[in-house]
Amino acid sequence: MSECRVCGGVVDEFFDFGRQPLSDVFCKEAAPSDEFFFRLAVGVCGSCTMVQLMEEVPRERMFHEDYPYRSSGSATMRGHFEKVAHTFLQTELTGPDPFIVEIGCNDGAMLRSIQEAGIRHLGVEPSGGVADVARAAGVQVRTAFFEESTAREIAAEHGPANVIYAANTICHIPYLGSIFAGVSALLADDGVFLFEDPYLGEIVKRASFDQIYDEHFYFFSAHSVRAAARRFGLELVDVERLPVHGGELRYTIARSGSRPVSAMVTEVLAEEAEQRLHDPATFQDLAARIRRNCQDLVTLLRELKDKGRRVVAYGATAKSATVANYCGIGPDLVSAVYDITPEKQGLYTPGMHIPVRPMEEFHTTYPDYTLLFAWNFADEILAKESGYRDSGGKWILYVPDVHVL
Ligand code: SAM
Ligand code: TMP
Ligand code: ZN
Repeated sequence: MSECRVCGGVVDEFFDFGRQPLSDVFCKEAAPSDEFFFRLAVGVCGSCTMVQLMEEVPRERMFHEDYPYRSSGSATMRGHFEKVAHTFLQTELTGPDPFIVEIGCNDGAMLRSIQEAGIRHLGVEPSGGVADVARAAGVQVRTAFFEESTAREIAAEHGPANVIYAANTICHIPYLGSIFAGVSALLADDGVFLFEDPYLGEIVKRASFDQIYDEHFYFFSAHSVRAAARRFGLELVDVERLPVHGGELRYTIARSGSRPVSAMVTEVLAEEAEQRLHDPATFQDLAARIRRNCQDLVTLLRELKDKGRRVVAYGATAKSATVANYCGIGPDLVSAVYDITPEKQGLYTPGMHIPVRPMEEFHTTYPDYTLLFAWNFADEILAKESGYRDSGGKWILYVPDVHVL
């Protein structure tokens, strides 16, 4: 049992993945001696319903100069962020001299389009390597962790923000109170704070347990986000479903009373009540499905090994650290993981130490079976790798259950 990071209530643990490595720290050697591990366990707050990790990893261990994730790494996300920027340019950023702040701008996938339109902007990004990539594209970036003090400094230097935006970042930040206090200090009176993150409702529906790893501290729902915002004089005024990263929700937050609350908020809250996202029994059921999926996956991989099939994986995703380490999938079951990210190639996956190889090698000799670790990009990958299936190759997926395509 631990104390809720949002409301101080009691958090009931519902799943313990045990000792896990940091999901984005790839190893230089196949048998490293100094790897960092922590206990990955997840629970639900009995008071405010916020689903959260039981233990927090110090932020500097995860977000630093060598943080390897690149937002622009997939065509799906490049297209997504261009669309986000253009929507802002046509809606919230049409007043006199508008200003937008992005929390966790990464390589500038979204802010590039804002910069090209000549709009005042600032990205706040603690990971120096990716921040430099954004800067090289002309994006204004402050290398810092966003929190209340940073927000106050930005407000003093640049004035209020009409839009504060964050994608796949707020769920990474345990100090949510400081984030909301910072948003409150920086946001224009009629401004909006929008953020999008993997949706708890989808994780429960799809049993996509690999969304649970060190960086994902919170698993938001409309219900838990509304309750958290209200503690800071802010209101959830809109929600939008997004197809990316296995199903996300985008939350629009404004100062209480400054904007009407949309019908979608009421609709999603009602759906969450029906899905019983507040009920401990829902999470016990999820726990049982996680155990079953892992057993099925390992059984399949062992069978394939016994039959002498060559099995590899596609996408050295952060998510796959949980799958590989919890299920015990190492180089004996999956000989290599192919990935397009140069920074990951030549290294070994966290914890289980599967070699990460350049994608070109996947194409040189097709394997018999490929475990799709990057299942959140399945549409993009299956389309561009159609030659693999045409030549008899098979994909293995484990969400929502283990199946072969
Ligand atoms: N927004 C990008 C996207 O959706 O592709 C990047 C998402 S990446 C998974 C999370 C990013 O949040 C990382 O670039 C990390 O450095 C950044 N981050 C973590 N804590 C932060 C904080 N307190 N303030 C700002 N950015 C933070
Ligand atoms: P993530 O799930 O942690 O965001 O990481 C996605 C990883 O998948 C990233 O390392 C890039 C990789 N990837 C490929 O190798 N090929 C692809 O076609 C796509 C879309 C992603
Ligand atoms: Zn709580």
